[in-house]
Amino acid sequence: MSDLSVREATKRATARMSHSDVEIPRDRDSSVPRPPGPSTTALINAFRRGPAVLELFTNVAREHPQIAHTRLLGEHLYLLNSPDVIVDVMQKHGRNTMKGRGLQGAKALLGNGLLTSEGDAHMRQRRLVQPAFHHDRIRLYADQMADLSVAHEATWVNGAEVDMVTDMSALTLAIVGRTLFGSDLTGDASDVGDALTTVLEGMGSRLMLGPAAMRIPSPSRRRAVLAAAQLDTMVQRIIDNHRGGGNADDMLAILISATEDGTGMTDEQLRDESMTLVLAGHETTAMTLSWGWMLLAQNPLAREWMTEELDAVLNGRTPVMADLDAMPRTRAVVAEILRMYPAAWVIGRRLLDDVEIGDVRIPRGAICLASQWVMQRDQRWWDQPLSFRPDRWLTPAGTFDESAPGQPRGAFFPFGFGNRRCIGESFAWTEAMLILGTLAQRWSPELVMDGAIEPMPAVTLRPSPGMAMRLVARAKPQ
Ligand code: HEM
Repeated sequence: MSDLSVREATKRATARMSHSDVEIPRDRDSSVPRPPGPSTTALINAFRRGPAVLELFTNVAREHPQIAHTRLLGEHLYLLNSPDVIVDVMQKHGRNTMKGRGLQGAKALLGNGLLTSEGDAHMRQRRLVQPAFHHDRIRLYADQMADLSVAHEATWVNGAEVDMVTDMSALTLAIVGRTLFGSDLTGDASDVGDALTTVLEGMGSRLMLGPAAMRIPSPSRRRAVLAAAQLDTMVQRIIDNHRGGGNADDMLAILISATEDGTGMTDEQLRDESMTLVLAGHETTAMTLSWGWMLLAQNPLAREWMTEELDAVLNGRTPVMADLDAMPRTRAVVAEILRMYPAAWVIGRRLLDDVEIGDVRIPRGAICLASQWVMQRDQRWWDQPLSFRPDRWLTPAGTFDESAPGQPRGAFFPFGFGNRRCIGESFAWTEAMLILGTLAQRWSPELVMDGAIEPMPAVTLRPSPGMAMRLVARAKPQ
């Protein structure tokens, strides 16, 4: 249990949430002409019904193929509906923006870590954290990822039914725990994961609504605050252990030793970055893999296309990082999963300055949203967008190329943009390919209930109600 009282934990969470490195501007100018868009009521109704948000955003992009405007909770929201507009705002003007309401609320948990910090403070943290993601480090993590995938495979029993979301979350959490906190701390990592799940369940839907909603008292909020306090205590203990020496090979050790101009991170910064990496690093990959198993079960031909490659390259052995370049089909499968079921389904930014797009002026303080779900399934940029066709990512020579499908820049952005682009991108590709490469060689999980799984747009795009699958040992081709 936590060493902190609810009152103290609440005080800390609220202080974290209210902290901002830059002033938060508001768009209050009623004289600005705004483009048309959906009504606030339509938006609120869609948010209430979860998956309807995806449908609403998709329809809005059809009706307003460039930019749409709406209002929510006193904010002006602009939905960016074409790749050039998205690149313009997110990439070209990226440094003149800050995160939107959702991530502002997430500060209650993540404090001022990479995902939620702003401005110069963010850039400094990014430089300090970057060495933990160098190519050589990823190679080291790759061995750990493969080892943990093999250990996880030992828990799979032919014919058993599992919830793939829970199953993949356990594996990706073990991986982030091992790579971040070191081998002797796997137990702590899973406690951190359990507490994190409680926090997300308590705060999940409120996150979308931002800081004000996070302050409304309720039993689930109380549970979340307590779990957050428990997390604080655990992570502090892990940091203390590391400061005491040992564990030179994990990410936390690198974060502890990183310095700029002679100064390193405070314990609070280490706590915020650790929490951020555990959360950002396991939930997204777990959702990607869960959707992946569903897509492979629904598309046996694509699965065979991939396993043919696994048989040829690996012939039953566990993959290592050096194998990944010889596995373009497996990489293409991961790209196609990320296209159809992007774990990060929307990116939000508040503008710190006015931005002109054609004849539309988007004022400082407005929030711009770009949805991966909408753009990556839009038939303006994709051939047969609703079909799972991993081969679209291969060149005629059979190599993987992210531009092979012919989509414009800004139509595929599962890892975001510019200086806020996912720092864990190559970690994630490596992890997803190694897990699939290890497990799909010997297993073809089947869906227990086909067709009833809906994408729920929460913090990430989660399968609802979970993903019941039967583990089936693969019949090897003769
Ligand atoms: C399939 C897996 C993943 C997906 C789809 C994904 C997606 C994203 C996206 C879209 C962003 C940008 C968010 C924004 O602009 O608001 C982001 C940022 C971030 N991701 Fe990932 N991510 C994945 C895996 C990981 C992993 C494995 C880690 C760490 C181990 C990680 C750590 C982070 C961090 C720290 C940031 C914030 C970067 C910054 O702002 O400087 N992610 N991720």
